Amino acid sequence: MISHFFGKITLSIIKPDAVKNGYIVPILYKINNAGFHIKALKMTELSKKSAIKFYDEHKKKVFFNSLIEFMSSGPIMSIILEKKNAVKDFRILIGDTNPIKAKKKTIRNLYATSLEKNAIHGSDSNENAIKECLFYFSNRDILF
Ligand code: CMP
Repeated sequence: MISHFFGKITLSIIKPDAVKNGYIVPILYKINNAGFHIKALKMTELSKKSAIKFYDEHKKKVFFNSLIEFMSSGPIMSIILEKKNAVKDFRILIGDTNPIKAKKKTIRNLYATSLEKNAIHGSDSNENAIKECLFYFSNRDILF
C-alpha cells in the first residue's frame, strides 16, 4: 500500500521541458546517485482536465492557466522515490522553484529554463507526497 510508505516516499515529475530537451537519463542518474530508490515509474501525458485536478491548490494563482498549458503540452515522467527523509532530501536535490535561485549542481540549476519550465517536481510535504503518488499510481504499480 502506497500509504504505508508515509514519510519515506516522494512524488517526482520530470516535466515536459526536460523530457523534450532529452534530460530524462541525466536526471535519473542524479536521482540514483543521491541514494533514492525508484519504487514506480511511468511515461505519461496529462490531459488539461487531469492537470487542473493535480494543480488544484494553485487555481487562484495568476500563472495557473499557463501552468496547465505547459504541463499538458507533452509527455512527462512520473516517479515514486523512496529514501529516508525523501520529501526534504529530494527538494534539496532539485533546488529552488526558481532556477535563478537554485543552488549550483541542483537539478533545476542544471536543467530548468524558467520559473515555469523548471524541469522537475518534488512533493512539498509527506501528506501531499502520498496524495500525489496516488494521483499517478495505484497500489499495484509499486515495484518492490
Ligand atoms: P512545482 O512546485 O513543481 O509545481 C507548481 C509549479 O508552478 C512550480 O513548480 C512552477 O513550475 C510553477 N510556478 C510557481 N510559481 C510560479 C510563478 N510565479 N510563475 C510561473 N510559474 C510558477
